[in-house]
This record gives sequence, structure tokens and C-alpha cells, in this order.
Amino acid sequence: MADPQRHPFLHGLSKHRGAPPTVVVIFGASGDLTARKLIPAVYNLGHDNLLPADFHLVGFGRKPIPDEEFRNLAAAAIKEFSRREPDPAVWNRLAANTSYVAGGYDEKAAFDRLAAHIDAIEKRTGRDVQVLFYISTPPTVFTPILLNLGASGLAHRHIDLPHHAKVIIEKPFGRDLASAHALNATIGSVFQERQVYRIDHYLGKETVQDLLVQRFANAIFEPLWNRNFIDSVQITVAEEVGVGSRGGYYEQSGALRDMIQNHTMQLVALTAMEPPVSLDAEAIRDEKVKLLRAIQPLVLGEGGDVARAQYTAGMVGGKSAPGYREEEGISPESATETFAALRLSINNWRWQGVPFYLRSGKRMARRVSEIAINFKCPPGTLFAAGGRFDLAGNTLSFQIQPDEGLSLILNTKIPGLETRTQPVKMSFRYATTFGSNTPEAYERLVLDAMIGDGTLFIRGDEAETSWKLCTPVLESWAAAGREGMDSYHAGSWGPKAAETLLEKHGHVWRQP
Ligand code: BG6
Repeated sequence: MADPQRHPFLHGLSKHRGAPPTVVVIFGASGDLTARKLIPAVYNLGHDNLLPADFHLVGFGRKPIPDEEFRNLAAAAIKEFSRREPDPAVWNRLAANTSYVAGGYDEKAAFDRLAAHIDAIEKRTGRDVQVLFYISTPPTVFTPILLNLGASGLAHRHIDLPHHAKVIIEKPFGRDLASAHALNATIGSVFQERQVYRIDHYLGKETVQDLLVQRFANAIFEPLWNRNFIDSVQITVAEEVGVGSRGGYYEQSGALRDMIQNHTMQLVALTAMEPPVSLDAEAIRDEKVKLLRAIQPLVLGEGGDVARAQYTAGMVGGKSAPGYREEEGISPESATETFAALRLSINNWRWQGVPFYLRSGKRMARRVSEIAINFKCPPGTLFAAGGRFDLAGNTLSFQIQPDEGLSLILNTKIPGLETRTQPVKMSFRYATTFGSNTPEAYERLVLDAMIGDGTLFIRGDEAETSWKLCTPVLESWAAAGREGMDSYHAGSWGPKAAETLLEKHGHVWRQP
């Protein structure tokens, strides 16, 4: 184990992670995300002794649910979705402090009842409690919730103290630049920016956090991390799943809104940003925004920087899968893309001329998210000359999921009496080195918000900058309808249009 005294960077990361007494209020308490992610995350924090002694969980929703039934639902969610087997001792402690308040999101009186409920908890606790509101509802009710948090005074609890009220806002954060701007304005009319935690669960993934550590805790990368040595960058976020039962949501969203504008753009920002002056939230977020601002507007239309497609029937993981337009809740005429690819040009000193290729799709060959940094080929004087050797440009790839890790492709001599070369892969796998039971993204993010650390959350200007880039694409696609929409078989690596995007620049997609 490295000695933190000799490694100040490690020392900085192992800072005390204790949260003050906290009430987490989940809006949308009977929703899917709450059951699959939020309640299991809270449970696992409890399991790891990371919850404060006075921790309370309050569900809030339209449906009247007695406390006991909410506890049963929470227990069932933990049993089904927690990464660990539930431990009765941990659950009993949590269950004793779990309750439910029913009410409409646009009903001010319901928020007054919630405020009284929280005051009663605070009184019983005998200490000030911090409240963390988690808005995990459909976006149509974000505004009434925010306004009622303001009107009831809940948003201003302990406002001048470190344990002031905080709010986590789930995606989707708007559906274009105008709606994201309007949402930021509503948030700003109720909360101060330091109280706001816009979530992007990709930032809670271990490998995404490791990207910063790899880049800035290893001296070997920074000198190479620029246009002098890097030929191109490819980011793939591929899913095997289709739209499942979320057809209604997905039809209004599509791959660009659902995955690219948020998760994939965050990966671009962390890969390409300049070194921040410190590990503080603002320092990191300033650099991310600067990077996003340097991305050039995308060239639209045929031969441009964007491609989109829908999946047709095919085989995924050995099973047959229907086409997108045959899925439940999807219009047979749908013009919603299930795959999107972009070519980004970053106009700054470090990256000018280095294309960043992004692709994300549903029903692709395999679930894999990775960032591949493709280095330039060596000069063609020795081994690269005359096509006699099998030489590849070096590729450093961050495997975000599954099988999290890092690998580097190097050209190597094949043992033997003649000189022949072969690219080989040098790999590091988290599971092999550290064991496989790593925390889920939501655990880290809920804990960070309780502690008041916004580093892994999106700032308002960051969300808007990313929307600014994507909105013209969305508008052009909406205007074109199905015209220009390519297709790909379920279970494949995507459409021809995505290959064309790279081919004309002499690149090919790498097989993850
Ligand atoms: C969500 C999208 O934000 O991310 C889903 O709405 C997608 O459509 C999911 O399936 C992917 O997350 P993960 O963590 O499984 O890669």
C-alpha cells in the first residue's frame, strides 16, 4: 500500500468522508430508479458504515402508501437489486428511520406537511439535520416540485450553514438548449448553485473517476496527451438492451438526448480537458466547461459530422430481437434514433486536428463502454516501412464497463529466429487487482451530495454548453423526419453511416 505521506495525491483523495445528520427525501419514491438504484445505494452506504448516525429516508409520492408498506417495498428493492445480500442488522437500523409522505407535486400543502415531518425528525434527533432532496420523477413535474420546495421554505433550511438544504436532479436535464436554460432559471429562482447537484451517473462510475487519476497521477501520459502524438479518439457507449418497457420515454428522447448529450459528452470533457488547478469541484468543472466550449459546431446534413440510425430485427446474445419500430409503445413511423454517432473537432491548442468520434446505440453487438486513445503510427523508416511488419498504432483504452480496466496495445517482436512483429495487449483489470465488489455509481454520488462535494455533478453552464452543441443536430433531425435515417441489425456494431463518418477521414471504428 502506498504511503500517503509520500503520495500527497492519494492523501488528498482519502479525505474524511463523513456526512452530517441527514434526511434524504426521494420524490418519485415508488418509481423504477428508486427501487433499482437509489434505495440499494442507500442500503450499501449503510452497510459500509458511511451513513451518518442520524440518517433518515423519506419517500414522497402521489400514491398514498403507509410507512410500513414503503418499508416493505424498500426491503424488496434491496433484496432484488442490491449488489450485496441484505444484512438484517443493517436493514433494521435503516428501516427504523424510513417513512413516507403522500402528496401531489403541485400541492403546496403537501410540502408544508413534508416540512413538518422533517421538523419532527429534527426535533427527535436533537441536532440540526441537513435535508437532501432527490428529484427522481418524470421531468414534467420538476418545476412544481422546485417551486414548492421554495414556497414551503424547505429549500432554505439552514441556508447559511454547511448543512444547508441540497437538491439532486435526475436526468433528463431539459430536452434542448431552451428547456435546459429554462430549468436552470427555475432552479436558480429557488436554490443557490452551491445547493444543486445535477446527476450524471456516468461520473459515479469507478473507471470514469479513474480517468482523472490516470491522466494526472501518472507523469508518462501528459507529455503525449495532445495533437503531436494522438491521431484520434473513439468513444463507444454500446448497449445490448433495447428500449424494454421505456418505449414511451425513449420515443421522445432518442440516443442523442438519452446518452450522447450527457454521458458521452462527460467522457469527452474528462478525456480532453486541461489539468485543473486543484481537485476542487469548481476547478474541475471550469476546465470541463472550457473544453466543451472549444468544440466546434457540428456540420449537419449529408457528408457532415453526424449519423443516426434505428435498429431492425436481429439476434442479440443468441436471442432474436424485434426491430425498434416493432417494439411496444413505439410508432411504426417513428423517426427516433436508437443509434447516434458524431465527429467532434476541438479547436484548442491541445486538440486541433484530432477527431473525437463518439457513438452510442441500443441493441448493439455487446454491452461495452470504452474510451480509446489512438496514438500516431511510428515513423515509417524501420519496422513501419514497406508493409513487411504487422504494426498497429498504439492504443490506450479505458474500459468503463463491463470488465472495468485499462489496456495498451504495443507492437512486439514475435519470438523466433526472424524479426516479425505483432500488436499485443497489456491489460489491467480492476476485478483482478482490487476484487469485484466495487460500489455502484449511485452510492458514490449520493454520499458526495450528502457531504457537499459537487465534483462529480454537472454545473448549470456545463449542461447548457453541451445542449448548445447538440440542439442544432436535434432540430435538423426533427425537420428531416425519417429522411437520412440509416438502419442496423439488432446485434451488430451499428449502421454503415457511422462507418462512412470515419472512412472519409481515413479511420475505422475499432472493435471493442
Ligand atoms: C440511462 C439511459 O441514463 O443510462 C438508459 O436513460 C441507459 O437508456 C442507461 O440504458 C445506461 O446506463 P449504464 O450505467 O447501464 O451504462
